[in-house]
Amino acid sequence: MKAIILAGGSGTRLYPVTQVVNKHLLPIYNKPMIYYPLSLVMLLGIKSVLFIVNPSDLSSFQKLFGDGSKLGMDIEYKIQEKPNGLAEGLIIAEDFIGNDNICYILGDNIFFGHDLVKVINEAKIEVEKKGGAYIFGYSVKDPERFGIIEFDDEGNVLSIEEKPQNPKSNYAIVGLYFYDNKAIKIAKNVQPSGRGELEITSVNEEYLKNNNLKVKLLGRGFAWFDAGTHDSFLEAGEFVATIERKTGFMVGCIEEIAYRNGWINEEQLLKLAYPLRKTDYGKYLMELVKDQIVGGNIAF
Ligand code: G1P
Repeated sequence: MKAIILAGGSGTRLYPVTQVVNKHLLPIYNKPMIYYPLSLVMLLGIKSVLFIVNPSDLSSFQKLFGDGSKLGMDIEYKIQEKPNGLAEGLIIAEDFIGNDNICYILGDNIFFGHDLVKVINEAKIEVEKKGGAYIFGYSVKDPERFGIIEFDDEGNVLSIEEKPQNPKSNYAIVGLYFYDNKAIKIAKNVQPSGRGELEITSVNEEYLKNNNLKVKLLGRGFAWFDAGTHDSFLEAGEFVATIERKTGFMVGCIEEIAYRNGWINEEQLLKLAYPLRKTDYGKYLMELVKDQIVGGNIAF
């Protein structure tokens, strides 16, 4: 499976902050927002990642991640000329994906929770084995902001709607989607919505129509943030700061994950840590090598 991380868009809901800076490079507490979705992809063991970015931000992303080799990964980039919607990301990624299955994640989505990776990995395995699409729902207080799933009494999906004025439930579709290769063809047939975008919800609707959409709810033990507004951006930063201060473990630390995955060795980790040595982040990375932290893997 290959991963696509969408990091384009205009970020208008974060204006004036994002008038000249890409939101995905802004800090959620002590690291760029984009580290969080990338870290989830890495925790799923996916080494091959495509970032879809705006033309003006390409060089910043390349500066940050290069070709991915410093993390033991293979990172590529493609440009989305205009914010034409999430489904367009699948079309842009066609060559990169080839015949593979797809993990598609939005660059402003942050996930946290015990056994999160185990739960998400089930979706990856299911799509790899059986095909289809696999998405996740999460209860929110402001459903009109999201794609919304309607269930019947037995938990079957009745409908999914993008940003409905009268939401049929409080279950938002989070920005993490697993698809078989057919998603690219489906995306190509999507028509622009009322807001003029190729909606990912239309892709999911097509899978639903074909009885090929699986939805799993992430319960209240999980935290999910779409850090695309002033309040959710701040909340996400406060959340990460609280967890990190309490536990002493970092959330979304890509160098740590690369190291624990065995994708880079101690020497490579120290090389990444060195320029960061004046920060707690850099010191944390150096400590990893020093004491191989006792029980360190519980962080995942
Ligand atoms: C997008 C999707 C929406 C989903 C949300 C999750 O919304 O269109 O279905 O619930 O991401 O973050 P957007 O970021 O375009 O507002």
